[in-house]
Amino acid sequence: MQKPHSTPRIGVLISGSGSNLQAIIDHQKLHSNLYEIALVISNKADAFGLVRAENANIPTMVIDHTQYNDREAFDAKLQQTLEEAKIEFIVLAGFMRILTRGFTQHFLGKMINIHPSLLPKYTGLHTHQRALDAGDKEHGLSIHFVTPELDGGPVILQAVVKIDPNETETSLREKVHQQEHITYPLVIEWFALGRLSFKDNQAWLDQKILKQPQVLSKTIS
Ligand code: GAR
Repeated sequence: MQKPHSTPRIGVLISGSGSNLQAIIDHQKLHSNLYEIALVISNKADAFGLVRAENANIPTMVIDHTQYNDREAFDAKLQQTLEEAKIEFIVLAGFMRILTRGFTQHFLGKMINIHPSLLPKYTGLHTHQRALDAGDKEHGLSIHFVTPELDGGPVILQAVVKIDPNETETSLREKVHQQEHITYPLVIEWFALGRLSFKDNQAWLDQKILKQPQVLSKTIS
């Protein structure tokens, strides 16, 4: 994978609606010199995010995981596709596939994910319902570098939302989504500006280790 230059080529991986992809597209349109969304890949042919990408004239590709014998074969195709497209930074935006250790090691420091919980709480699925079931007062999202450990890589940024007494899974998901659409483009911008990096298994912003996760309200100025 090449080093970022002035306009890095970003690849976005999706599986579904792609509302985060839309937020990234909208952000990119406002800041067209910052980065290029060079390719959107979906493992599902009917993902609405593909329509969003096509509407924005972004090249798309479907790599249907059901057509591959195992995760290794699927990830090998994914890797080949990303490298052929000269992608420099990979953004997982609702990409609902567990990636192999080999794939995550290969792109270590060059791939981020957004997860709908305040990690390390609630890795995996059904995070909103699990937060409600636990009686949590707060929930949120985490953006992190991808490492072999599922939802376990160093956190770059979190945003917190309040859980109201009458909160439902749907309303909570919507609240988290709103924050996702603000924070994910911001973190990609940090990368494109050369402010964000990965070293010694840590996330760095402006040459400082992000020891404690950055929380949105404390970060945006
Ligand atoms: C987002 O809420 C994202 O945090 C979550 O999927 C949703 C995708 O929405 N990702 C995960 O759960 C990954 N473990 P979108 O397709 O509308 O962007």
